[in-house]
Amino acid sequence: MTEKPLSGMDPEEFRKLGKEVVDWIADYLKNAEKYPVFSQVKPGDIKKQLPIAPPTSPERTENILADFNRIILPGITHWNHPGFLAYFANSASAPGILAEMLATALNVNGMLWRTSPSATELEEVVTDWYRQMLGLPVEFQGVIIDTASVSTLVALTAAREAVHKQVREQGLSGRTDLPRLRLYCTEHTHSSIEKAAIVLGIGQEGVRKILSDAEYRMKPELLSAAIEEDRKNGWLPFATVATVGTTSSTSIDPVPAIADICQKEKIWLHVDGAYGGAAAIIPEMRYVLNGCDRADSFVTNPHKWLFAPMDCSVLFTRHVGILKQAFSLVPEYLRTTDGTVNNYMDWGVQLGRRFRSLKLWFIIRSFGVEGLTSLLREHCRLAREFASWVDADKNFERIAPVPFSVVCFRYHPNEISDETKLEKFNAQIIERINATGELFLSHTKLNGRYTIRIAIGNIATTEKHIKRLWELLKAEADKLE
Ligand SMILES: Cc1ncc(COP(=O)(O)O)c(C=O)c1O
Repeated sequence: MTEKPLSGMDPEEFRKLGKEVVDWIADYLKNAEKYPVFSQVKPGDIKKQLPIAPPTSPERTENILADFNRIILPGITHWNHPGFLAYFANSASAPGILAEMLATALNVNGMLWRTSPSATELEEVVTDWYRQMLGLPVEFQGVIIDTASVSTLVALTAAREAVHKQVREQGLSGRTDLPRLRLYCTEHTHSSIEKAAIVLGIGQEGVRKILSDAEYRMKPELLSAAIEEDRKNGWLPFATVATVGTTSSTSIDPVPAIADICQKEKIWLHVDGAYGGAAAIIPEMRYVLNGCDRADSFVTNPHKWLFAPMDCSVLFTRHVGILKQAFSLVPEYLRTTDGTVNNYMDWGVQLGRRFRSLKLWFIIRSFGVEGLTSLLREHCRLAREFASWVDADKNFERIAPVPFSVVCFRYHPNEISDETKLEKFNAQIIERINATGELFLSHTKLNGRYTIRIAIGNIATTEKHIKRLWELLKAEADKLE
């Protein structure tokens, strides 16, 4: 038996199999639509085909690839399918996939500048390109993190550091000498904000949800009143999270008014633009980020609506000093004498960091800002078109405005007013459409109303797909009647 080289595979065998895998990926991207978008397996179906114990002796890669096709693929819900309209639809673009292959091969850990100068410097450059594309001010510096949830955790840690410096050393538990911290958002704010409060020791009680208006946007006058009341009651207001593109309805909080309040009250403003932020690259939609230039931090996810393969979230802040004050902790073995270089490990929780800037670089260069802009613009146009069909049909009702590429609506003929029945019918419609394997939809609830929610964000979704959706919706609704 020939001994395997240290990479675990003979280079020529790798070349051969690598080409096969690339061919597989190319066919997959070409034919993604031929797979059922929503995996049709039942719980446990995949697991029962896999051995309980690991193999003791080496297996041939051809066999592993065969099992990938036979066992794993049927359990895949195809986020790359143009009929994927659930959650926030996204897609791994081909340039992003190529960059991920290279990043994986290089296997860079960009914790320190010296552990790969290109990783650090490309991240600085690419996040600044993205800042310019979004029209954010030059004081904003960016860092790439895995997800918006962690970006927000990092931002809120900095916000806490800004008011309670001693917490870093002394912690929060058992403290009676410090006022309790309060942060503000709405019921439509993403759950990651509450999770950050849990992790930071602020607790869910430290999160105060401000009421929203009829279009699911924070009421700023209630924010002011809540801050005043909390101060009187001994709380220390320290942060507000405003959202540009909330998860359920994609509403846009009134950031300029919220920024005024945060400035007056000297509290940190974090803006969550995980999905909606990307729309600001469209010149005529730049207004979606009005007021965000005054934020202390801002997060947006290229893995949601900029065709980056999972995962890629960009956190911008004007307070890198505070961020580092909160996180920098350099043990001897990571100490360097490289001078003024940037060590991204000082900007957050993780030490080890993937080379995520490479995919953003490939994507922005391959599509160009114009190419990305026209894709996003088309998604928004398709959403408006679909919304117009909903509006014109007396059996359907739109539940929210359409500022981006998401439409919230439901089947609601005049003669049915019972909410339980409406929920049952709409859930049935979603279930039946998902069972076709052609399209994948998800739902939410808005003001207690069960809502079908479609998100157009896949790179390959076209008018054909939303026309087909409309056809299926009407057909399924007719069957209910
Ligand atoms: C508005 C908003 N913020 C944050 C998140 C969390 O994103 P991530 O999965 O990157 O943590 C989401 C997810 O959909 C979201 O819609």
